[in-house]
Amino acid sequence: MKVVILDTPTQVADYAAELFQQQLQHKPASVFGLATGSTPLKLYRELIKRQHGGLISFNQAQSFNLDEYLGLAATHPHSYSYFMQQELFDHIDIQASNTHVPPGDAPDPEAACAQYERAIEAAGGIDLQLLGIGRNGHIGFNEPGSAFSSRTRVAKLSPETMRDNARFFSQDQRQPELSITMGIATIMAARQVILLATGDNKAEAVQATVDGPMSVDCPASVLQSHPAATVIVDQAAALLNQ
Ligand code: F6R
Repeated sequence: MKVVILDTPTQVADYAAELFQQQLQHKPASVFGLATGSTPLKLYRELIKRQHGGLISFNQAQSFNLDEYLGLAATHPHSYSYFMQQELFDHIDIQASNTHVPPGDAPDPEAACAQYERAIEAAGGIDLQLLGIGRNGHIGFNEPGSAFSSRTRVAKLSPETMRDNARFFSQDQRQPELSITMGIATIMAARQVILLATGDNKAEAVQATVDGPMSVDCPASVLQSHPAATVIVDQAAALLNQ
Protein backbone atom coordinates (compact mmCIF):
# COMPACT_ATOMS: atom_id res chain seq x y z
CA MET A 1 0.00 0.00 0.00
CA LYS A 2 1.40 3.35 -1.04
CA VAL A 3 0.60 6.38 1.10
CA VAL A 4 0.80 9.88 -0.37
CA ILE A 5 0.51 12.83 2.02
CA LEU A 6 -0.15 16.22 0.44
CA ASP A 7 -0.74 19.65 1.92
CA THR A 8 -4.28 20.45 0.84
CA PRO A 9 -7.53 18.82 -0.37
CA THR A 10 -6.96 20.51 -3.75
CA GLN A 11 -3.61 18.75 -4.11
CA VAL A 12 -5.28 15.46 -3.19
CA ALA A 13 -7.87 16.02 -5.94
CA ASP A 14 -5.19 16.97 -8.49
CA TYR A 15 -3.07 13.92 -7.66
CA ALA A 16 -6.09 11.64 -8.08
CA ALA A 17 -7.11 13.39 -11.32
CA GLU A 18 -3.63 12.69 -12.66
CA LEU A 19 -4.13 8.96 -11.95
CA PHE A 20 -7.48 9.05 -13.79
CA GLN A 21 -5.79 10.82 -16.71
CA GLN A 22 -2.96 8.26 -16.87
CA GLN A 23 -5.50 5.44 -16.74
CA LEU A 24 -7.50 6.92 -19.63
CA GLN A 25 -4.35 7.53 -21.68
CA HIS A 26 -3.28 3.95 -21.16
CA LYS A 27 -6.78 2.55 -21.85
CA PRO A 28 -9.50 4.86 -23.24
CA ALA A 29 -12.15 2.19 -22.56
CA SER A 30 -11.27 2.01 -18.87
CA VAL A 31 -13.75 0.79 -16.28
CA PHE A 32 -13.91 3.07 -13.24
CA GLY A 33 -15.36 2.36 -9.82
CA LEU A 34 -16.74 5.62 -8.43
CA ALA A 35 -17.75 6.99 -5.04
CA THR A 36 -20.14 9.67 -3.80
CA GLY A 37 -19.89 11.84 -0.67
CA SER A 38 -18.05 15.10 -0.03
CA THR A 39 -14.52 13.84 -0.56
CA PRO A 40 -14.51 13.22 -4.34
CA LEU A 41 -16.26 16.50 -5.23
CA LYS A 42 -13.03 18.41 -5.92
CA LEU A 43 -11.73 15.50 -7.98
CA TYR A 44 -14.93 15.40 -10.06
CA ARG A 45 -14.64 19.15 -10.73
CA GLU A 46 -11.04 18.66 -11.83
CA LEU A 47 -12.02 15.77 -14.13
CA ILE A 48 -14.76 17.94 -15.68
CA LYS A 49 -12.18 20.70 -16.23
CA ARG A 50 -9.70 18.31 -17.82
CA GLN A 51 -12.35 16.83 -20.09
CA HIS A 52 -13.54 20.26 -21.22
CA GLY A 53 -9.91 21.25 -21.77
CA GLY A 54 -9.45 18.27 -24.08
CA LEU A 55 -6.93 16.49 -21.84
CA ILE A 56 -9.15 13.44 -21.27
CA SER A 57 -12.26 11.82 -22.68
CA PHE A 58 -14.69 9.39 -21.05
CA ASN A 59 -16.32 8.65 -24.37
CA GLN A 60 -15.31 4.99 -24.29
CA ALA A 61 -15.14 4.61 -20.49
CA GLN A 62 -17.57 2.80 -18.20
CA SER A 63 -18.34 3.40 -14.55
CA PHE A 64 -19.75 1.42 -11.64
CA ASN A 65 -20.66 3.23 -8.46
CA LEU A 66 -19.92 1.69 -5.11
CA ASP A 67 -23.29 2.00 -3.49
CA GLU A 68 -26.84 3.30 -3.36
CA TYR A 69 -29.52 3.74 -0.72
CA LEU A 70 -32.06 0.94 -0.80
CA GLY A 71 -35.53 2.35 -1.44
CA LEU A 72 -34.45 5.46 -3.37
CA ALA A 73 -35.09 5.57 -7.12
CA ALA A 74 -32.46 7.14 -9.39
CA THR A 75 -34.64 10.25 -9.73
CA HIS A 76 -34.74 10.86 -5.96
CA PRO A 77 -32.65 13.96 -5.12
CA HIS A 78 -30.95 12.08 -2.26
CA SER A 79 -30.06 9.04 -4.30
CA TYR A 80 -26.43 8.50 -5.20
CA SER A 81 -27.52 8.07 -8.80
CA TYR A 82 -28.87 11.62 -8.78
CA PHE A 83 -25.69 12.85 -7.08
CA MET A 84 -23.52 11.33 -9.81
CA GLN A 85 -25.63 12.91 -12.55
CA GLN A 86 -25.39 16.33 -10.89
CA GLU A 87 -21.75 16.22 -9.90
CA LEU A 88 -20.15 14.36 -12.79
CA PHE A 89 -22.07 12.51 -15.49
CA ASP A 90 -24.08 15.52 -16.75
CA HIS A 91 -20.84 17.42 -17.31
CA ILE A 92 -18.58 14.91 -19.05
CA ASP A 93 -18.72 12.98 -22.31
CA ILE A 94 -19.38 9.56 -20.74
CA GLN A 95 -22.23 7.68 -22.43
CA ALA A 96 -25.26 7.35 -20.16
CA SER A 97 -25.58 3.65 -20.96
CA ASN A 98 -22.00 3.13 -19.75
CA THR A 99 -22.69 4.47 -16.25
CA HIS A 100 -23.94 2.09 -13.57
CA VAL A 101 -25.20 2.73 -10.06
CA PRO A 102 -26.83 -0.06 -8.01
CA PRO A 103 -30.61 0.23 -8.47
CA GLY A 104 -32.02 1.42 -5.14
CA ASP A 105 -35.58 0.74 -6.25
CA ALA A 106 -35.02 -2.81 -7.51
CA PRO A 107 -38.08 -4.99 -6.81
CA ASP A 108 -35.73 -7.87 -6.01
CA PRO A 109 -32.62 -6.34 -4.39
CA GLU A 110 -30.81 -9.69 -3.98
CA ALA A 111 -31.18 -10.40 -7.69
CA ALA A 112 -30.04 -6.84 -8.47
CA CYS A 113 -26.86 -7.39 -6.42
CA ALA A 114 -26.02 -10.58 -8.31
CA GLN A 115 -26.76 -8.78 -11.59
CA TYR A 116 -24.43 -5.89 -10.60
CA GLU A 117 -21.58 -8.35 -10.00
CA ARG A 118 -22.24 -9.94 -13.39
CA ALA A 119 -22.25 -6.52 -15.10
CA ILE A 120 -18.86 -5.64 -13.58
CA GLU A 121 -17.49 -8.96 -14.74
CA ALA A 122 -18.97 -8.54 -18.24
CA ALA A 123 -17.26 -5.13 -18.47
CA GLY A 124 -13.93 -6.87 -17.84
CA GLY A 125 -13.60 -5.89 -14.19
CA ILE A 126 -12.74 -2.52 -12.65
CA ASP A 127 -9.47 -0.92 -13.72
CA LEU A 128 -9.41 1.94 -11.23
CA GLN A 129 -11.56 2.02 -8.09
CA LEU A 130 -12.02 5.32 -6.26
CA LEU A 131 -12.86 5.21 -2.54
CA GLY A 132 -13.63 7.63 0.24
CA ILE A 133 -13.56 6.46 3.85
CA GLY A 134 -16.05 6.74 6.70
CA ARG A 135 -14.94 7.91 10.14
CA ASN A 136 -15.38 4.29 11.25
CA GLY A 137 -13.18 3.02 8.42
CA HIS A 138 -16.00 1.93 6.13
CA ILE A 139 -15.48 1.71 2.36
CA GLY A 140 -18.59 1.74 0.21
CA PHE A 141 -21.20 0.84 2.82
CA ASN A 142 -19.06 -2.00 4.15
CA GLU A 143 -19.28 -1.14 7.80
CA PRO A 144 -16.96 -2.55 10.50
CA GLY A 145 -17.53 -6.30 10.76
CA SER A 146 -18.09 -6.75 7.01
CA ALA A 147 -16.45 -9.93 5.75
CA PHE A 148 -13.41 -9.47 3.54
CA SER A 149 -15.02 -12.07 1.25
CA SER A 150 -18.22 -10.03 0.84
CA ARG A 151 -19.62 -9.25 -2.61
CA THR A 152 -22.32 -6.81 -3.73
CA ARG A 153 -25.17 -7.14 -1.26
CA VAL A 154 -27.79 -5.40 0.84
CA ALA A 155 -26.06 -3.92 3.89
CA LYS A 156 -27.28 -1.98 6.91
CA LEU A 157 -25.74 1.39 7.72
CA SER A 158 -24.20 1.69 11.18
CA PRO A 159 -25.68 4.24 13.63
CA GLU A 160 -22.47 6.29 13.25
CA THR A 161 -22.81 6.42 9.46
CA MET A 162 -26.51 7.26 9.80
CA ARG A 163 -25.51 10.21 11.98
CA ASP A 164 -22.74 11.33 9.62
CA ASN A 165 -25.04 11.22 6.60
CA ALA A 166 -28.03 12.81 8.35
CA ARG A 167 -26.69 16.18 7.15
CA PHE A 168 -27.99 15.39 3.66
CA PHE A 169 -31.58 14.77 4.82
CA SER A 170 -34.06 17.28 6.25
CA GLN A 171 -36.07 16.30 9.34
CA ASP A 172 -39.19 15.34 7.43
CA GLN A 173 -37.30 13.09 5.03
CA ARG A 174 -36.85 9.45 5.92
CA GLN A 175 -33.18 8.49 5.87
CA PRO A 176 -32.71 4.95 4.51
CA GLU A 177 -31.03 2.48 6.85
CA LEU A 178 -30.22 -0.01 4.11
CA SER A 179 -28.03 0.17 1.05
CA ILE A 180 -26.85 -1.89 -1.86
CA THR A 181 -23.06 -1.84 -1.74
CA MET A 182 -20.22 -3.48 -3.60
CA GLY A 183 -18.61 -5.91 -1.17
CA ILE A 184 -15.05 -5.80 0.06
CA ALA A 185 -14.02 -8.61 -2.28
CA THR A 186 -15.65 -6.72 -5.16
CA ILE A 187 -13.53 -3.66 -4.32
CA MET A 188 -10.38 -5.73 -3.85
CA ALA A 189 -10.82 -7.27 -7.32
CA ALA A 190 -10.17 -3.87 -8.93
CA ARG A 191 -6.77 -3.71 -10.62
CA GLN A 192 -5.94 -0.39 -8.95
CA VAL A 193 -7.54 1.23 -5.90
CA ILE A 194 -7.19 4.82 -4.73
CA LEU A 195 -8.60 5.98 -1.41
CA LEU A 196 -8.92 9.70 -0.73
CA ALA A 197 -9.27 11.21 2.74
CA THR A 198 -9.20 14.86 3.74
CA GLY A 199 -9.81 16.65 7.02
CA ASP A 200 -8.93 15.86 10.62
CA ASN A 201 -12.24 14.00 11.19
CA LYS A 202 -10.74 11.20 9.05
CA ALA A 203 -7.40 11.05 10.90
CA GLU A 204 -8.32 8.08 13.15
CA ALA A 205 -9.72 6.07 10.26
CA VAL A 206 -6.63 6.80 8.15
CA GLN A 207 -4.34 5.77 11.00
CA ALA A 208 -6.22 2.48 11.44
CA THR A 209 -6.16 1.88 7.67
CA VAL A 210 -2.45 2.47 7.23
CA ASP A 211 -0.81 1.63 10.58
CA GLY A 212 -3.35 -0.64 12.24
CA PRO A 213 -3.70 -4.40 11.96
CA MET A 214 -5.60 -5.67 8.93
CA SER A 215 -8.95 -6.29 10.57
CA VAL A 216 -12.68 -6.22 9.84
CA ASP A 217 -12.88 -3.62 12.62
CA CYS A 218 -11.50 -1.16 10.04
CA PRO A 219 -12.72 -2.36 6.63
CA ALA A 220 -10.32 -0.05 4.72
CA SER A 221 -7.34 -1.81 6.34
CA VAL A 222 -7.92 -4.65 3.85
CA LEU A 223 -6.20 -2.41 1.29
CA GLN A 224 -2.88 -3.25 2.97
CA SER A 225 -3.06 -6.52 1.07
CA HIS A 226 -4.01 -5.01 -2.32
CA PRO A 227 -1.17 -5.13 -4.87
CA ALA A 228 -1.87 -1.62 -6.21
CA ALA A 229 -3.59 0.51 -3.58
CA THR A 230 -2.75 4.17 -2.98
CA VAL A 231 -4.04 6.14 -0.01
CA ILE A 232 -3.96 9.85 -0.84
CA VAL A 233 -4.51 12.16 2.13
CA ASP A 234 -4.04 15.76 3.15
CA GLN A 235 -1.97 16.83 6.18
CA ALA A 236 -5.08 17.03 8.39
CA ALA A 237 -6.12 13.45 7.67
CA ALA A 238 -2.53 12.28 8.18
CA LEU A 239 -2.33 13.93 11.61
CA LEU A 240 -2.06 10.66 13.57
CA ASN A 241 0.18 8.76 11.14
CA GLN A 242 3.77 7.98 11.93
C1 F6R B 1 -19.86 6.84 -0.91
C2 F6R B 1 -19.21 5.82 -0.07
C3 F6R B 1 -18.80 6.12 1.33
C4 F6R B 1 -18.06 7.46 1.47
C5 F6R B 1 -17.68 7.73 2.92
C6 F6R B 1 -17.04 9.08 3.10
O1 F6R B 1 -20.19 6.30 -2.18
O2 F6R B 1 -19.06 4.74 -0.52
O3 F6R B 1 -17.99 5.07 1.78
O4 F6R B 1 -16.91 7.43 0.67
O5 F6R B 1 -18.83 7.66 3.72
O6 F6R B 1 -17.96 10.09 2.81
P1 F6R B 1 -17.51 11.61 2.74
O7 F6R B 1 -16.61 11.73 1.56
O8 F6R B 1 -18.80 12.37 2.53
O9 F6R B 1 -16.83 11.94 4.01
